[in-house]
Amino acid sequence: MILGCAWYPEHWDESRWPEDVRLMREAGMNMVRVGEFAWSRLEPAEGQYEFEWLERAIALAAENGLRTILGTPTAAPPAWLTQTYPETLAINADGRQATHGARCHFNAGNPKYLELCARIAGEMAKRFGANPHVIGWQIDNEYHRESWGEDTRRAFQAFLEARHGSLDKLNKRWSTAYWSQEYTDWAQIPLPIAWGGHNPGLQLDYKLFITEVYKQYQHVQIEAIRAHAEPRQWITHNFMGWFDLFDHYTISEELDVVAWDNYVGKGHLDFRANGAVHDLTRGFKRMNYYVLETQPGWVNWSGVGNALYPGEVRCMAWHAVGHGADAVSYWQWRSALGGQEQYHGTLVAADGAPRPLYTEVAELGKDFDRVGPLLEGTTPSSQVAVLHSYEDRWAINMQRHHRDFDPVQHLLSYYRPLRDLTHAVDIVSPLAPLEGYKLVVAPHLHLFHNAILAPLGPFMQNGGHLVLGPRSGFKDRYNALLPSRQPSVLAQGLGAHVEEFYALEEPIPVEGRWGEGRAQYWAEWLTSDAKDVDVLMSYGPGQGWLDGKPAVVTRKFGKGRITYVGAWLDEEMMAKLADWLLTVSKVEPAFGEVPDGVEVCRRAAPDGRELFIFINHTDISVQVPIPKPMRDMLTGKVHRTTLAIGPRDVAVGVKEG
Ligand code: GLA
Repeated sequence: MILGCAWYPEHWDESRWPEDVRLMREAGMNMVRVGEFAWSRLEPAEGQYEFEWLERAIALAAENGLRTILGTPTAAPPAWLTQTYPETLAINADGRQATHGARCHFNAGNPKYLELCARIAGEMAKRFGANPHVIGWQIDNEYHRESWGEDTRRAFQAFLEARHGSLDKLNKRWSTAYWSQEYTDWAQIPLPIAWGGHNPGLQLDYKLFITEVYKQYQHVQIEAIRAHAEPRQWITHNFMGWFDLFDHYTISEELDVVAWDNYVGKGHLDFRANGAVHDLTRGFKRMNYYVLETQPGWVNWSGVGNALYPGEVRCMAWHAVGHGADAVSYWQWRSALGGQEQYHGTLVAADGAPRPLYTEVAELGKDFDRVGPLLEGTTPSSQVAVLHSYEDRWAINMQRHHRDFDPVQHLLSYYRPLRDLTHAVDIVSPLAPLEGYKLVVAPHLHLFHNAILAPLGPFMQNGGHLVLGPRSGFKDRYNALLPSRQPSVLAQGLGAHVEEFYALEEPIPVEGRWGEGRAQYWAEWLTSDAKDVDVLMSYGPGQGWLDGKPAVVTRKFGKGRITYVGAWLDEEMMAKLADWLLTVSKVEPAFGEVPDGVEVCRRAAPDGRELFIFINHTDISVQVPIPKPMRDMLTGKVHRTTLAIGPRDVAVGVKEG
């Protein structure tokens, strides 16, 4: 297990460094992440590299048992760079050029900038690629900047030409006869700025274009590092949860391991919603991942910069580990005396002495010491997959049709009850292999195309249960309407189709197999086309068009099953639906029932090691029923029938005997 922090030695006089690393070591840390904004210190003038200070910082950290993750400093180009090459500055959506004084003022698509990024990354790799204390690299920091200049527009046009091949095809796929949008020259095609209502095909292609921009931006740096770094040094990037500027599955491909920055912001941890982001991140490469930034107490950027409760930071770390994080790293160690983030939480204060939270992180250091070796090689696994795609989210968000139809919230309406009942859910791309899953839930499989559809038939034939939520099978890969009724080519196998869809002004009743409940925001009128279709739920009276019409249907498919849920159901109804789905699909939960507010996560290794991480997110003591005696590896105590966990405390259980 990696426990560490973001450390900025360049903010401090070197005489202070020994005290910093001593305090880190005493907190049980074994990693520092450095360098990711230090370009002006690493290359103070073009071609003049000053790596000695960084080498000394890395060596000092190593003497204190801290290994280093090196960030490439490209999120903060220095002033000499943008002065010499002003074309590398981003252009804001209002047409103005970004200025110096903050960070991320670069244009990720600018060839000169890519050249300069590759150069600094390569020079760093020449110097540190064989450094035994450097375990890995982080490329840049939280990719997110867009640039709206003419050069981006030309690059977008070139991207479109490569993607579509001919303007004829593009015009057809984008339905450009609509509003005289037909293009007769690639150079006529705009970027989707200035006003909101651009063509849906163009908007979707723009997202794919930005994905390509960041893929390339990342690639040139990876290539430059790989040319010099020893293969043992891995390469990562720190993503931002649900952030959707680009397709994270594509960007993750070239990384050895992915990471994300887990901030609560205002308020406190909602472990069910936050757990979904962990599972999302684990799904990028379908393997364990790192949390490279998390808040030591509070942040400086939310409406209220409140502190997490005592114990909450440690619970949050174990919650991350439970979901498959193999690293937890705090942002940041100590804030620079100046700079934009003076109010952010840190582990040592402005005077350089530990803050109250330091003790809690030190406790975590002890935890990781005790349990780290046992966690080695273990990972969560699940029989349930929730499908998530950026294309579907983009397409729905461009035209929600009901302002509250937030695709992430909709996905969570499935994830939460499934996770509560099974304690293990994967969130993966529809292009991920489906073998091994008993239940695959696609909350809104909006865009249908062959690559996504091809595995679904065999999955069900072989006994899998596929669940499609509302808005499934509505559009093609170019974001054009399919000339069929939903769920398009799957309607035949389902033995039912969507007669009509409705955005709901008010929730409406649904009734049937699981009693009475409500549909909200969205409801589709389903029609059965085959005798063996089971109608599980129907709409009650109220909306008119939907009165008495089927809302949820299911049918056998090969050795498996297909179910279509035509509405966004309320929480209680979703809990019942989830229970039914799991029973029918014979999903075995990772653990039994746990008290409210307690989370349990299972990590296992191929050699049979199995650990259960219990996190009591509440402020009261709880008793968790356990089927067999378990030893809590954090305390060494054996528990027979129940496991007692104190308020905001953690237990790591291993079965005894
Ligand atoms: C982001 C950045 C960090 C820092 C934190 C503050 O995650 O990556 O550099 O600004 O936010 O919360």
